[in-house]
Amino acid sequence: MTSDAAPELLLSIESTCDETAAAVIRRDGTVLGQCIATQETLHEQFGGVVPEIAARAHLERILPVINTALKQADVCGEDLTAIAVADRPGLAGSLLVGVVAAKTLALAWSKPLIALNHLHAHLYACQLIDGAPENIYPAIGLIVSGGHTSLYVCHTAIELEYLGGTIDDAAGEAFDKVAAMLSLPFPGGVEVAKLASEGNDKAYSFPRSMIHDPGDDFSFSGLKTAVRYAIAGPGRQDFSTLEISDQVKRDVCASFEAAVVDVLVSKCRRAIKRHKNRNKSNANEANRLIVGGGVAANQRLRRDLQAAADQDGFELWIAPPHLCTDNAVMGAIAWKKFEAEQFASLDLDITPGLQRGF
Ligand code: KG4
Ligand code: ZN
Repeated sequence: MTSDAAPELLLSIESTCDETAAAVIRRDGTVLGQCIATQETLHEQFGGVVPEIAARAHLERILPVINTALKQADVCGEDLTAIAVADRPGLAGSLLVGVVAAKTLALAWSKPLIALNHLHAHLYACQLIDGAPENIYPAIGLIVSGGHTSLYVCHTAIELEYLGGTIDDAAGEAFDKVAAMLSLPFPGGVEVAKLASEGNDKAYSFPRSMIHDPGDDFSFSGLKTAVRYAIAGPGRQDFSTLEISDQVKRDVCASFEAAVVDVLVSKCRRAIKRHKNRNKSNANEANRLIVGGGVAANQRLRRDLQAAADQDGFELWIAPPHLCTDNAVMGAIAWKKFEAEQFASLDLDITPGLQRGF
């Protein structure tokens, strides 16, 4: 590639949890190469992500994954304009692998380094939808992932104000734990959603925790316990020996999914309304909801959010299903940091970000 015609190219690296991913993204948003290595088979037998195993697997995969993305894009290190990596939040060992790889390549190839907030990147996936406004911000942002359930006012792609979030389990975590109780394959969210689509969502009356709370916090651990009681009763239980009929599984999944979705939709509607009233002088401010994270792939959530948007008159953009779960393409947000000249130094450290309000 000659330097005259050289487009500006970003290498984006993602390793916050159990997906090792890299993408080469042009400044105009075109994805030239991308690769994701999943680790599902490694964690399957444990029914959840084991941090040490995840870190070791990232270590084995990170360079092949980056190489594949570069090869697909037909570029080499010298062609890059910048290197971006998610440095927060996530599993410490997993984050470390991505951050060390990015710093090393930035040093070796003399490229600027950009540090990304993985959650902001999840929301930025909405900006990548075909037909999205050129600037999708400002908006109210809902993150629903395996580790987070949070609401933000997103002033810009990279300036976000935390409104509230889960005080215990994340929505995705609840999906995964219910799947484990029902002995469904890992990762559980997709399996629970699949069974839910064939079940009766009124078969069980599960709690909609904090749905009437005027704040923006969520709680899903009571719901998880209610599911446990419904299928096994209180006390110690070896779920692998429980015999649960297929119909009960379908009905539990449908009723559980309905409870999660009702809470998420209701909280979003309230946050949008509140912000619309607060910003009457600027009607556009936050009359738009953007949604990202693994659980945003859930069909019932997408359908019910759309119904709420139609009824309440707000604009809704949900990340495309293939960009809901972890990927490096949403790292295109790094171009916004590039434009704002927000570069990281080579002593960049990870921020696992376990505290609330992140
Ligand atoms: O965003 P993500 O890939 O990882 C984190 O950053 O946490 O989200 C993964 C989560 C898992 O909990 C998974 O079970 C859930 O998203 N998930 C779903 C669906 N697809 C993935 N939950 C409900 N319905 C789905 N269709
Ligand atoms: Zn994620």
